Amino acid sequence: MLYVIGDLHLSFEAGKPMDVFGDAWKDHVPRLLEGFGVVTGEDVTVLCGDLTWGISMEDSLEDFRFIDELPGKKIILKGNHDYWWSTASKAKKFFEEHELNTIDILNNNCFFYGDTAICGTRGWFCDPMKGTDHDRKMIAREAMRLEASLKAAEGAEKIQVFMHYPPRFGTYIMREITDLLESYRVSDCWYGHLHGPGIKMAVTGVRGGVDYHLISADYLGFKPVKVL
Ligand SMILES: [Fe+2]
Ligand SMILES: [Fe+2]
Repeated sequence: MLYVIGDLHLSFEAGKPMDVFGDAWKDHVPRLLEGFGVVTGEDVTVLCGDLTWGISMEDSLEDFRFIDELPGKKIILKGNHDYWWSTASKAKKFFEEHELNTIDILNNNCFFYGDTAICGTRGWFCDPMKGTDHDRKMIAREAMRLEASLKAAEGAEKIQVFMHYPPRFGTYIMREITDLLESYRVSDCWYGHLHGPGIKMAVTGVRGGVDYHLISADYLGFKPVKVL
């Protein structure tokens, strides 16, 4: 099976207690472990960013060990709180050095799950009226990364896209991203990032032929959801 969940927000070393974000986050680590009870060693889970509060790879080691010990293979992508991330190659090397063998990185590439391609990138939010030059630059860069990932999916029967930021948020639409999702005939887009009061701004269901799903951990009750 292929599963997905976003925003684990782990903090074994950074010591950030997540229950300050509200009751929904109380005991989130044991609840995550319980949620992963449905996942087996044969399964693959995509983790859609905001993995750990650690500010360096070393600071995040215990969090990555926790992720590594979760059942099955994990494919990770970057969120806005992943300050530990410098480059994908440095992260890959760090995982190898520490024998974190079940974690792969989705970044300008794609993975295949049978005939289905697993594509994606972090994404960004840019308000069309109030967005800064930096926001516009970031969204253009993320669109390039997404297209590199989608191009790598050539020959796939079906494409599933995984992002951290929602490409649609309330009445906002990140056209640079949604145009790609639609032109590459992506079947579903799974995204995280929205928590607590932000959840009511989530867009879910089919828009422009793409089925959108919010999969932040608190929204899912810390239980990975099945993609395939
Ligand atoms: Fe988050
Ligand atoms: Fe986030």
